[in-house]
Formats: sequence, C-alpha cells, structure tokens
Amino acid sequence: MNFDNSHRLFERATRVVAGGVSSQIRVNEPAPVPLFFTRAEGSRMWDADGNEYIDYIQGMGPNLFGHAPEFINRQVEEDMRKGYVYAAQFERELEVAELALEMIPMPDARVRFATSGTEIDQLVIRLMRGYTGRPKYLKFEGHYHGWMDSVNYSVHPPLDQAGSPESPEAVGESQGMDTGPADGVVICEWNDVEALERAFAAHPGEIAGVIMEPILANTNCIMPLPGYAEEVKRICAENGALLCFDEVITGFRVAAGGAQEYLGVIPDLATYAKSLAGGFPVAMLAGRSEIMEILGNGTVYHGGSFNSNVMSMAASYASLRHIADAGPAFYTELNGRGLHLMDGLREVAAETESKLHVQGVGSVFSISFTTKPEIVSWRDHARNCDDAMYSQFAKAMLEQGVRLSSNGRIHMSSAHTDEDVQQTVEAARRALATI
Ligand SMILES: Cc1ncc(COP(=O)(O)O)c(C=O)c1O
Repeated sequence: MNFDNSHRLFERATRVVAGGVSSQIRVNEPAPVPLFFTRAEGSRMWDADGNEYIDYIQGMGPNLFGHAPEFINRQVEEDMRKGYVYAAQFERELEVAELALEMIPMPDARVRFATSGTEIDQLVIRLMRGYTGRPKYLKFEGHYHGWMDSVNYSVHPPLDQAGSPESPEAVGESQGMDTGPADGVVICEWNDVEALERAFAAHPGEIAGVIMEPILANTNCIMPLPGYAEEVKRICAENGALLCFDEVITGFRVAAGGAQEYLGVIPDLATYAKSLAGGFPVAMLAGRSEIMEILGNGTVYHGGSFNSNVMSMAASYASLRHIADAGPAFYTELNGRGLHLMDGLREVAAETESKLHVQGVGSVFSISFTTKPEIVSWRDHARNCDDAMYSQFAKAMLEQGVRLSSNGRIHMSSAHTDEDVQQTVEAARRALATI
C-alpha cells in the first residue's frame, strides 16, 4: 500500500498543527503515518492516496449508522437553513429530549444538552457534589471520562505507579494537570465489590457519587461481572452517594435504552454523547428530576454557547427517529452482525492458534491478544494482554484494507454489511499469518 500523499500532508501538518494532529490518540493510529482522508461513506473510508478501508473506528463511536447517512444529511441541511446557533430554545430540542426519554428506562428524568462527552462528565461530577454537599467522587481504574484535570486519572496507569489494589493511587495521565483535583477523586479497582466497600469505608460521608462505564468500553470492553452493577448501586444507596453511568459509548449503541436497558440496572444519572447525534457533536445528561432540579434552578451552574445548537439537534432528532422507526430490529441486526464478526475472528484465532481474543457485546467489542478466557479489569489487562502484538495486528489489518483503532475497540455501524464482516474475517486470517 502506498501512503505517499499522507506522508507529504503529515509533514506539512507538523508545521502548523502541534504534533500534526488535533487529538493525541490519532498519533497512535496503526499506520506508518497518521493518515489523511478525503472521503467517508457508510462503512468505508478513502485516504489521500486512494486506499479504501472498511472502517471500524467510525469516529471512535459516534457514527452509529456509518459515515454520512443520507437521513441525517437531509435533516441537518433542512434545519440549518433556519440558523445555526440561537443561544435560545427551539422546538427541535424538546423533540430530541422527548424521544431520548422515551428510550432511556430511567423514570421521571430530565435532560440537559452539551457538546462533548468530556464536558458532560464535568457537569455530572459538579452536580453530584452540588446535590450531596460532599467533596469527593469515585472513579475506577481503566475507565475514561474525558481529558479534563478532574477526571484524567488512572485511566491506564502503569502498574508500577498504580499502588496496591487495596488502595490504588490516583495516577495523572498527563503532565501539567492541576494537582488540586487529585484530592477530590477516590480511585478503585472495578468489578470488585469488596474494593468498593473498602473505598467507601475509607472515606466516610465524603463521596458524593460514583461514575463508571457500565460496560467498560475503554478497556477491553469488559462486562460487569454478574451482579456487580447491582452491587455498585446498592453500595452507593447505602452510603448516600449518587451513581452515574457514563454511557458516552454505550448510550443508544448497545440498546435504545443503552447499558441501563442491557444490564437492567437504573442509575441516578447517566451521561451520553457519541451515538446520540450519529456523528455530530452533542452530549446529554439525564437524571432523576429531583437531582436535576438544582441544575434547572441554577444552583449548580451549567453554560455553553454551542449547547443544543441547530445542527446537533437536527442530527440527534434524525438519529433517534431512525432508531424509533426501525424498532427492535435495529439493535438485533447491529449487535447480531457484531457477534457474527466476533465469532468469525474467534474461528480464525483457533485455526491459526493465535492469542487473538475478543470480548464485548456485538455493537461494540474489543480485540486483544491474551491466553486468558476473559479480562475483568485494567490490572488484568495490563498483566495479561500483549498490546504490542495487537498493534502489529492492527497495522497488518490496515495493509489488508481494514481500519482498526489503536486501542482495539471495534465500533459496528448499521452500515456494515455481511460482506464487510466476511472480508474482515478473511483479512484477519491473512494478517495473523504475517505477524
Ligand atoms: C466513556 C467515555 N466518556 C467520556 C468520553 C469523552 O468524550 P469526548 O471525546 O466527546 O469528549 C469518552 C470518549 O471516548 C468516553 O469513551
């Protein structure tokens, strides 16, 4: 494969854009150079050298219907002719809120809109503190809630810095972070009920709430162990703390009602972003009305010039209408095609005696290289998964015309076809033979 134009453009980019990219993860794309793209449609992308790929990055998740679906294009084009940013209310915003609340199983809820997952997770942490009057919140190792100073701790901490599993350290993911917020975050190992009990016991009356990815999409797509999500909810309630599900990835992706519907566990609060607008920048907080009241009356402040802008609301409306009109078949097909791909990859792994391992739920799953039958936490991943081998595999897949993310997460879209799945499995067979 020839990447000459991407090389040339990247060299030009480094002269004007820091590091040549606008989000750090893009530097690590499994390619000889961060690729430049000229077009994307459905399940496919074309780079500046004319190479065609089946894309499983799908914007890191937002493109639930594939790239640039016609029904979103139409709605956005129509609505944006009437203006872009009102900084005021309009009916489309209500329609999105109403449709979303019909899908989310949380009873008696209210929503607020913002523009990114990072932003909405900031809001929910402020709200949890504001509502309970407590100073700290708890997050788990391996979970990602955006890149801000208050949350960019212990996402994937090196084990020699992470401290003991009984009392993990808050390890900052970046230089330059404000050191103050470290006092406000309690870090805990996930999928371990006793660890959470211990964390609450060590900080009596101090923890305002717990935020967690209900399905740990940012580390191996780890499922909560049976009964774990229920236990987290119980422990939060017993300690007077709120529970927030960060559904930025799982929301509107694993089911219409997100991970809440999938797991049958309803938290006090939930944050959404990526799939809600099928590729346009949007985020949404949903929460029990009595908690949301202090947001509604301004006791907890929230602002944003671009919140509920016309294009994002048009795209969200088109996305949710599409899901509602398609009915349950939408998720049966989306998850089913993903499960089909997972099965195909497992078969190829067995045939080639490779350590390739998949886990997840179909519409979103992860590829890693390990001999363990299941990975259950970040520490488990760090000890048992061969990330260097995954990276080689992803590079070999690119050569076969399949675009995988640097972190192993696969985002299925409703635009992926059975033929895409078949081609991907064949590509994996050839890629595994080369590594
Ligand atoms: C679970 C989760 N929460 C929050 C975020 C942050 O969202 P954004 O990239 O829109 O700021 C992400 C991004 O990948 C995410 O995966």
